[in-house]
Amino acid sequence: MPARPSPFAAIALVALVAAAGHAQTVGVVGVLGDGIYRWDASEAARGAAVPSMSFENPASREQTREIAVDPAGLATRPRFQREPGEQAGEGGRARVEIDIAPGTSLYGTGQAAGPLLRNGRVTECWNTDAYGYQDDAPSLYTSHPWVLAVRADGTAFGVLADTTYRCEIDLRDGIVFRADGPEFPVIVIEGASPQEVMVGLGSLMGTIAMPPRWAIGYHQCRYSYNPESRVREVAQGFRDRNIPADVIWMDIDYMHGYRVFTFDHEQFPDPAGLNAWLDTIGFSNVWMIDPGVKDEPGYFVRDEMIDRNLAVLDSGGEVYRGEVWPGWCVYPDYTMADTRQWWAGLYRDFMGLGIDGVWNDMNEPAVFNVPTKTMPEDNQHRGDSALGGPATHDRFHNVYAMLMVQGTREGVVAANPNLRPFVLSRANFMGGHRYGATWTGDNTANWYHVDASIPMTLNLGLSGQPFCGPDIGGFAENGTPEMFQRWIGFGALFPFARGHTGKGNIDKEPWAFGPEVEATARRALEQRYILLPHLYTLFHESSVTGMPIARPTFFADPTDQALRGEDNSFLLGDGLLVVAQTAPLMDRVPVMPRGVWEPLGLVADDPALPDLFLRAGEILPTGPIVQHTRERPLDPLTLWIVLDESGRAEGTLYEDAGDGLEYLEGEYLLTTYEAVRQGDLVTVRVRETEGQMPRPSRRIVVNVLGGGRVSSAQGVDGQDVLVPVP
Ligand code: NOJ
Repeated sequence: MPARPSPFAAIALVALVAAAGHAQTVGVVGVLGDGIYRWDASEAARGAAVPSMSFENPASREQTREIAVDPAGLATRPRFQREPGEQAGEGGRARVEIDIAPGTSLYGTGQAAGPLLRNGRVTECWNTDAYGYQDDAPSLYTSHPWVLAVRADGTAFGVLADTTYRCEIDLRDGIVFRADGPEFPVIVIEGASPQEVMVGLGSLMGTIAMPPRWAIGYHQCRYSYNPESRVREVAQGFRDRNIPADVIWMDIDYMHGYRVFTFDHEQFPDPAGLNAWLDTIGFSNVWMIDPGVKDEPGYFVRDEMIDRNLAVLDSGGEVYRGEVWPGWCVYPDYTMADTRQWWAGLYRDFMGLGIDGVWNDMNEPAVFNVPTKTMPEDNQHRGDSALGGPATHDRFHNVYAMLMVQGTREGVVAANPNLRPFVLSRANFMGGHRYGATWTGDNTANWYHVDASIPMTLNLGLSGQPFCGPDIGGFAENGTPEMFQRWIGFGALFPFARGHTGKGNIDKEPWAFGPEVEATARRALEQRYILLPHLYTLFHESSVTGMPIARPTFFADPTDQALRGEDNSFLLGDGLLVVAQTAPLMDRVPVMPRGVWEPLGLVADDPALPDLFLRAGEILPTGPIVQHTRERPLDPLTLWIVLDESGRAEGTLYEDAGDGLEYLEGEYLLTTYEAVRQGDLVTVRVRETEGQMPRPSRRIVVNVLGGGRVSSAQGVDGQDVLVPVP
């Protein structure tokens, strides 16, 4: 049979000699889409590459078109090389190098401690239980072998090293990926702007599904709220104090001896009753499930797994055992669809107790009392052929959690097919945003972590994971009242906003630090709920395009070099700027984007809260203060408006039922509002609508900001509102 013609252009059969003395090749390239290229080290490497674990549709990575131009003229050209192993006989690492022009700023690299700007940094993709990590942690809980590069002129490109092996991203001199295992495909996405690259990434990796609205409210957690009377006390504490919140979390102490899918019947005698009661006061619930299954004959989860032969094996082919919370554990081998299906099935009875959301933790996977903190790299997984077949743990380590969360999500959906699933996972991988949200792991109550929480959240968003945030208040250690006050001030505005703390620490509920801090926390959370219509609209946008929800300030003007390192502030959408003070002395001077940004006051003045600014040309939809997202419909709708120099502004509002899947059938309302100034009158009207949901009959309040003044008018949503302005 004649060989199928390859759509790849072999541009480099020329071997170059790199400075290091090892042969480099320019590889072969094919086109995946507009400005999207797949490069491989050689035709042979391309043929041997295992299916992508990151692409939403792995087959699409294989459907390349021939490149129409001379590949030598492409702006971004990787060079491939094999680095020899340190010891004779070792396979060495596959190395890919990409030059960057002076003035190029680098971002992404997934969950990385330290500043937003990643130039000069080395990040290792190797999912790691990194309790108490600081700036120098080489690897954290999730892995995203991805770099977003913004050139001096504001054009951008992104590069994905499409490998699941341990991969170093070295940004000290250009972009260098060094990965264990064989040569891997490199995906390059070119864009006229960083935003365009993010949309390109979303088109390949998929986007988040629309979460239930309650998951966008504030979450309260600790390790652990137990017994159940304490859960009730904390939830009721929010209601008694009029501090908005939507979700309370059950950490591992609800379980019977840390056995997953069991309950401690003394401390949690009636989980269904607890969930039902929480629901009556407007609280949703999330319960934790870990991957480590206690190795105890007679325990149903363990017995089913062993009987069905679904566990990870050691190098000798025996069931692998590692120590975690319950003592010796066995671990599901999620690389088999059979295992994921079995795992999903476990959620049926669990969710049947009125459980709303699931928290998957310790899934790097964490193993106690071993120097590597995880399972041996030569453990065996019996991976399905769709995942490239069986392999040792070194190939599957970074995707162990992602496959677990995929199974969890499938189980949650099967248990409640008419509801939107919510799953939070500690570890994850590039593409895993399709299955679960993430948080930045076990941070510490110190000022370094207050400061690191914005850039970490932003870089995760720039790596395709928009639904994320830190443990507000810090997981390790106690911190100080002032630190908590500042942290919750801006932390309340992250896409995922959850307070959490570790065992043995002081209480860290919003009221735990006394009346002054409580007042700030209340305002901070009220501010989140006022902004919820906007946040929900941004989640919708992200679910359609892949754009981050919290965006770096330089997105306001990618050509402005002064903004490239700005990470004490962030944008929510295109036009709402949140300027935080993350240093104890509040002495950082923010770099503001050019143009007109009007200060916006949504709640009472409070120096511990971030400053908000609305960009000229924006219409921001907001709602009234509510105690939780299911309290009452949005009424009145309040639009905050800043006109641009031509006297116009525009903004969108997305609405749907807040849960359920009818929105996928068109049951939503996406409204574009516009404001136009003529003389001393601003007309605000609906310019466009999309979706079949009827417009709710409700009041509308319009506030036009300008020159330090607010001009207001009221009306009925859907009808023109006229605002007299000076
Ligand atoms: C580790 C997680 O990172 C933390 O958030 C959790 O509270 C503990 N495990 C206990 O489950």
